[in-house]
Amino acid sequence: MPKGIKEVLFSEEEIQARVHELGAEIAKEYEGCFPIFIGVLKGSFMFMADIVRSVGVDCEVDFMGISSYNNGTTTTGAVRITKDLSRDIEGRHVIIVEDILDSGITLAYLKKYLLNRDPASVKIVTLLDKPERRKSDIVADYVGFVCPNEFVVGYGLDYAEKYRNLPYVGLLKPEVYS
Ligand code: IMP
Ligand code: MG
Repeated sequence: MPKGIKEVLFSEEEIQARVHELGAEIAKEYEGCFPIFIGVLKGSFMFMADIVRSVGVDCEVDFMGISSYNNGTTTTGAVRITKDLSRDIEGRHVIIVEDILDSGITLAYLKKYLLNRDPASVKIVTLLDKPERRKSDIVADYVGFVCPNEFVVGYGLDYAEKYRNLPYVGLLKPEVYS
């Protein structure tokens, strides 16, 4: 286990199995719709790669960069777009792909922003959901795992840009960020 990781919360095998279940669910709903998956950089990159392969329907992928100003491990509330879509989404079925739904501030902002562009629909798939921490009124349509109210890293998620490459989601030792 890398230095700084206290324990594995969701193993590589658990994640892969759950991603396949989610993929099958999404495929049923979007077959023939030619959806656009929009990954929220950078945290969703690994989940995005796995989910689009497991959904398997004809689709497009795009990415957005969103920076929510934060002080280490929590969002402060101000959101800013750092990379916009590369194509128009008018009339399209959009699926936002996110690593973790925490306060919900980022996704509430992003969903509103995308709805302003007149897509046919916008749904959210998130690998992890921390419902206890919600500050915005937002729910994900597809959730991989409900996550305890602790700071997690791996499978795309970082602490100070580290640990994104771990194939599992783990708990960080408190001394790393305190
Ligand atoms: P929200 O706007 O508070 O929902 O923040 C969502 C973003 O905060 C996620 O996309 C992550 O980038 C980051 N984040 C929230 N909780 C965690 C965590 O436990 N580990 C790593 N990043 C997190
Ligand atoms: Mg993120």
